Amino acid sequence: MPHSTSAPPLGVGMVGYAFMGAAHSQGWRTVARAFDLPLTPVLAAVCGRDPAAVSQAADRLGWAAAETDWRALIARDDVSLVDICTPGDSHADIAIAALEAGKHVLCEKPLANTVAEAEAMAQAARAAAERGQLAMVGFNYRRVPALALARRLIAEGRVGTLRHVRVSYLQDWGEDPALPLVWRLRKDKAGSGALGDLGAHIVDLAQYLSGELLTGVSAQTETFVKERALPGGKAGQTGEVTVDDAAVFTGRLASGALTSFEVSRLAAGRKNQLRIELNGAAGSVAFDLERLNELEFHDHTLPASEGGFRRILATEADHPYLEGWWPPGHGLGYEHTFTHQARDLVLAIASGTQPEPTFDDGLQVQRVLAAIEESAQKNAVFTPVPAPE
Ligand SMILES: NC(=O)c1ccc[n+]([C@@H]2O[C@H](COP(=O)([O-])OP(=O)(O)OC[C@H]3O[C@@H](n4cnc5c(N)ncnc54)[C@H](O)[C@@H]3O)[C@@H](O)[C@H]2O)c1
Repeated sequence: MPHSTSAPPLGVGMVGYAFMGAAHSQGWRTVARAFDLPLTPVLAAVCGRDPAAVSQAADRLGWAAAETDWRALIARDDVSLVDICTPGDSHADIAIAALEAGKHVLCEKPLANTVAEAEAMAQAARAAAERGQLAMVGFNYRRVPALALARRLIAEGRVGTLRHVRVSYLQDWGEDPALPLVWRLRKDKAGSGALGDLGAHIVDLAQYLSGELLTGVSAQTETFVKERALPGGKAGQTGEVTVDDAAVFTGRLASGALTSFEVSRLAAGRKNQLRIELNGAAGSVAFDLERLNELEFHDHTLPASEGGFRRILATEADHPYLEGWWPPGHGLGYEHTFTHQARDLVLAIASGTQPEPTFDDGLQVQRVLAAIEESAQKNAVFTPVPAPE
């Protein structure tokens, strides 16, 4: 593993320190020791709302300082990049303020809670890019080496004219009857449910891997558990779940390829299972997040007698991102996606090139999510997705 910690510093300030905050911290702590980088990320300050809890988080996660107001974090001279790991209701305010203050921004997905917010963020990112500040969305699954390899094979034409993309992303934590009405179950906080949480990932992934955009969708959504206990409320006190628990939708890609998607938080036994398969005239690729070092590839140009899916272990030195890691066969995990995300963003900042996924990409995903909700409200009527300007 090369070391590059003598490179000039890039001060990072992170807002939110729970699940994604911990995952991003790990990425920032590791990246300059795994990859040879022209800038060394420095964990300058972390922000939360509770002074004692954020101080503790700073110690635990490796941040030099703690702040209790994200505006103060943005204003710090030692912060050049603001990393947003909060629920969706604060993404737009923080990202726009940071970009306007001349900071680079990494924002967790979904980009925003509404299309209008995402439009304002994308506009702020375009204006900031002209001044040299860059913005990126945290669709981290693009950074799984096996999926980056799938993208490479598809871009090289190894799958050929695309026929199908088939994706599901399933969890089961919603089956817990004791689960209180956490922020993820509230539209004012999360924007939508399984749709914005899991659906945003697989819409991005399907479009990224295929290299095409969805032109329209037909959808159904459901909230299976409509009331949940209020957090901190009295016994028996409940509140309404205002987001979907699950969504199923079909769509068309620009080439005419057909796609099908399923997301759920109530798929008993499925903890965090993301499966994606793309079928084309020249071949197919298939991936399962539970076996994230592997990509299945079928080369349909071979004689039928030699065809069939074969398992590629995406741990070779010339596989995407593997130059920073271990000898072949010594697999990677979920956390590496955040290190790779940090790597790609640092390289883009150092070279002044636009990192991907852009806020415009995040906006387009938001438009797909809005079309899905509109279609579901109209009993699955086919609903076009507006093309990017
Ligand atoms: N990329 C992924 O795979 C992935 C996975 C999970 C969540 N996410 C996304 O990451 C974001 C955060 O999700 P999470 O799972 O980390 O949530 P979480 O509940 O674990 O953490 C949210 C954090 O934000 C803080 N916070 C909330 N409002 C704040 C404010 N106004 N100022 C400062 N801090 C504030 C909370 O204190 C907490 O530390 C969401 O957008 C979510 O969709 C992405």
